[in-house]
Amino acid sequence: MVGVNHINAPLVVDIDAHTLTEYVPAKPLESNLEVVFVSAEQGSLRAPFEPCGQLNCGNTLKFPFARGANKPTAVAIVDAQVLVAADAATETKRVVELTLDTAALGELDYAPGDTVAVLPSNAPQIVAQLLQRLDLSEQADSVCHLSLALNCAKKSAKIPGHIPATTTPRELLTHCLSLHAVPQKQFLSALASCTSESKERSFLASLSSKQGAAHYQTLILKRGLCLMDLLELCTTCQPTLALLVEHLPRLLPRPYSIANSPLECSQQLRIIYSIRANKAGVTTSMLEAMRELYREKQQPVQLYIYPREQNAFRYTDQELSGNQILIAVGTGLAPFLGFLAHKQLHKELATGQTWLYVGAKTPQAILKQQQLLAWQKASILQSLRLCYSRSTTGEQPKYVQQLLEQDAQQLVELMQQSTTVLYVCADGAAISKCINDGLRRCLQLVLKLDETEATQWLKEMRAKGKYREDIWL
Ligand SMILES: Cc1cc2nc3c(=O)[nH]c(=O)nc-3n(C[C@H](O)[C@H](O)[C@H](O)COP(=O)(O)OP(=O)(O)OC[C@H]3O[C@@H](n4cnc5c(N)ncnc54)[C@H](O)[C@@H]3O)c2cc1C
Ligand SMILES: NC(=O)c1ccc[n+]([C@@H]2O[C@H](COP(=O)([O-])OP(=O)(O)OC[C@H]3O[C@@H](n4cnc5c(N)ncnc54)[C@H](OP(=O)(O)O)[C@@H]3O)[C@@H](O)[C@H]2O)c1
Repeated sequence: MVGVNHINAPLVVDIDAHTLTEYVPAKPLESNLEVVFVSAEQGSLRAPFEPCGQLNCGNTLKFPFARGANKPTAVAIVDAQVLVAADAATETKRVVELTLDTAALGELDYAPGDTVAVLPSNAPQIVAQLLQRLDLSEQADSVCHLSLALNCAKKSAKIPGHIPATTTPRELLTHCLSLHAVPQKQFLSALASCTSESKERSFLASLSSKQGAAHYQTLILKRGLCLMDLLELCTTCQPTLALLVEHLPRLLPRPYSIANSPLECSQQLRIIYSIRANKAGVTTSMLEAMRELYREKQQPVQLYIYPREQNAFRYTDQELSGNQILIAVGTGLAPFLGFLAHKQLHKELATGQTWLYVGAKTPQAILKQQQLLAWQKASILQSLRLCYSRSTTGEQPKYVQQLLEQDAQQLVELMQQSTTVLYVCADGAAISKCINDGLRRCLQLVLKLDETEATQWLKEMRAKGKYREDIWL
């Protein structure tokens, strides 16, 4: 069976080749939940677009890392700019900057480096597709509620906190459930029990079995197949809405760095996102759809955001008189644009050195390059070092840690100064580790330390709050 991915990259999976002939099917689980529709006589139709389902869940539902008592609030997009155009040849992602009117959030106190959370929603066309498969298109906007199934034997069973007390199928699938989460084996087994065609049922059952671990690893964990992909491949799989509520996790807010200084514009902030071309994520797809809508000016466009708790990755008045070494890859430059704008607006107090290192795919992928050069010219930046990993001019490809090593002598001298703080914005995984290793090699070379001593040096820097990381995992 061959299916087509729900976004746009072609997904070809031979399900026969991924079905074991011998396996022990997982024990089928009883369903604990059921969906109860309010009868038509009670006036059960609701407007299809409630602002945001998770806001209808009451005060017990917490929004992760929300600062103080802040709740998600609707803010309007007031500008949208493509900063970097996508380029298939160099795998460069499109990068977009959105300016948001934050008046609705009241007096928002923030510093460059702080983050906001954006509430995602699943794309309307994917939700419509799913409603159709669930045979709920007619009842998409009918009022319903979740209750524990009459035969529910599980003592700890409860309605998840992210499900509103009264809701509609469309609201649940649009705002509450993560349709693209990694499907757990129990979920696959439950899907198998809702599949009528035998080959498809065996595929799902085998994938969820102990013996199917290798196929689970290849298809689910490595290739990233999610519910929508599996439904595409298994056309006779027809789960119930209650089963999806039981097995799919909450659709969680996503963090974005504030990319401006609060001094630049009162009651506005900017966020910058990169979007994958062939398999865009949930939030970035939503932001792209909103950008399109804003561009066409068909209707006012709003999204839900809230300020997140602050941490040490920020540039405040305290840091103004010190030195900063800023290291970023790709869109990771976003928070530093805020740092530099802030420094410019506080120029009389900002007496320290600021060095910026950026690694990107190509020169065109460097965000706001003209602005960076202007900051360098105006001595906001004392050093600006750029490198490219996918050079199209025959130049040797380079990663940012190679620039650090080229500058080892001067860089270590700056790192040794008491007011210097090093900020790294990267993935928190392989790239961040390579940057850390690059810094370690600089210390080894210049201070003649062995690997253990240099590692300890960096560890102490972190402990003193002089090595701060923004992790975009
Ligand atoms: C503290 C913090 C600050 C952040 N700041 C920013 C920011 O300023 N700008 C920004 O663009 N992102 C930022 N991120 C990442 C952001 O929160 C999202 O994870 C990202 O935009 C993808 O969200 P999504 O819902 O579209 O993708 P999902 O649907 O969650 O993605 C599905 C999969 O695709 C991957 N993926 C999706 N889009 C991309 C992409 N563009 N590049 C690489 N992998 C991708 C995800 O990692 C995941 O594995 C930050 C993350 C953290 C933790
Ligand atoms: N988890 C998420 O949802 C998410 C979302 C957005 C961004 N991010 C992370 O945020 C950062 C910026 O995102 P982006 O979309 O702007 O990235 P991007 O355009 O892909 O740029 C990343 C740059 O870092 C380079 N790189 C790859 N491996 C490296 C390594 N080991 N050491 C040093 N540099 C390396 C890349 O080179 P190549 O040419 O070799 O690729 C590329 O030039 C990335 O770290 C990304 O992983 C995460």
